[in-house]
Amino acid sequence: MVNNKFGCAVIGYGGMGGWHSKKIKEELGEYAELIGIYDINPERCALAEEKGIHAYSSREELLADERIDLVTIATPNDVHKEIAVAALEAGKNVISEKPVAMNSGELEEMIACANRCGKLFTVHQNRRWDQDYLTVKKLMADNTLGKIFRIESRVHGSRGIPGDWRNQPEHGGGMLFDWGIHLLDQALIMTQPRKLKSVYAELTYVTNEKCDDGFRATLIFDDGLSFLVEIATSNFIELPLWYVLGENGSAVIEDWDFNGKIVKVSDWENRDAVPIVAGAGITKTMAPRTDDTIKTYPLEIEKSDWVEYYKNVFAHLNGKEDIIVTHNQQRRLMRLIEAIIESGTENKLVMFEE
Ligand SMILES: NC(=O)c1ccc[n+]([C@@H]2O[C@H](COP(=O)([O-])OP(=O)(O)OC[C@H]3O[C@@H](n4cnc5c(N)ncnc54)[C@H](O)[C@@H]3O)[C@@H](O)[C@H]2O)c1
Repeated sequence: MVNNKFGCAVIGYGGMGGWHSKKIKEELGEYAELIGIYDINPERCALAEEKGIHAYSSREELLADERIDLVTIATPNDVHKEIAVAALEAGKNVISEKPVAMNSGELEEMIACANRCGKLFTVHQNRRWDQDYLTVKKLMADNTLGKIFRIESRVHGSRGIPGDWRNQPEHGGGMLFDWGIHLLDQALIMTQPRKLKSVYAELTYVTNEKCDDGFRATLIFDDGLSFLVEIATSNFIELPLWYVLGENGSAVIEDWDFNGKIVKVSDWENRDAVPIVAGAGITKTMAPRTDDTIKTYPLEIEKSDWVEYYKNVFAHLNGKEDIIVTHNQQRRLMRLIEAIIESGTENKLVMFEE
């Protein structure tokens, strides 16, 4: 502790390490003090020093500093385990960036180490604080659309995979590990306490032969809910972030500006559809609804503040709150990632939970 605040350090001072450092300094000063960073690349250390952040000359030097209570790991994915184990064994609490590890085996080693050392080990699943996600989660909890039978959750881009370690399997590259893990974590949390019965997935390699540049996974839950998660990086026309279908209505969230709407049926019994011309035929079934049988509502976007993530970590370390991102959630998420890889590479349905 430093001045009664948690001493924090960040290992890996790239894009995300810079973000953690800035947030700890600028938004969490009431609870924490950023003691310093370490990056394997001296240029990144020099950049930190330019910004007034102390850069340690080695990881060992950082881990030996007794003022440091909490280490955030923001390196490429393949070294999360090695760094987490070293930090835990040095008596530090640890936040790992996502994906926590390369596979379930590594994750178990990390959990065993945390248990042995009696230290906190958790993962930065920051997208549990995304307002679009929280809005759909609330729609489910409030039963706004009646029984929900289908959810589609997507993020579409058109730039392929960024040209760094994310293109390299040995560093844990690919979009399943990158964006996928966020949306899959959201899917598993918002559907609790359902069991996930089966997974079917396709992995895409449009722009990259070695790492998936996207995937589509259909998750079927024990109440019949079908949940599609899709990440794609060759889409010059994006589909909505969320498309939700319930027995009494539908909802859409188009984008990160939260454009979207809810449409609910107001008169199910009115079946007086007039056939319309549709292509080379006519249809009554697919005739658009008239305003007297449906009602459109604006989305009520949930409020959230990502800083609550770190506040929970500090409250937990003070013995005041349960940790939000738990080991068992991470185990289930990593198993789901593995099921998606198995399904996508072997083109088969993978059964998940009994
Ligand atoms: N939660 C999120 O929203 C989010 C967003 C982006 C990235 N991430 C995660 O953050 C991590 C880092 O991603 P990034 O985009 O910042 O990557 P990056 O390439 O920008 O930064 C990684 C940094 O780690 C350093 N590094 C590599 N090996 C190291 C080692 N052994 N010890 C110390 N430093 C080392 C590199 O020199 C580099 O500066 C990844 O796990 C990624 O998945 C999370």
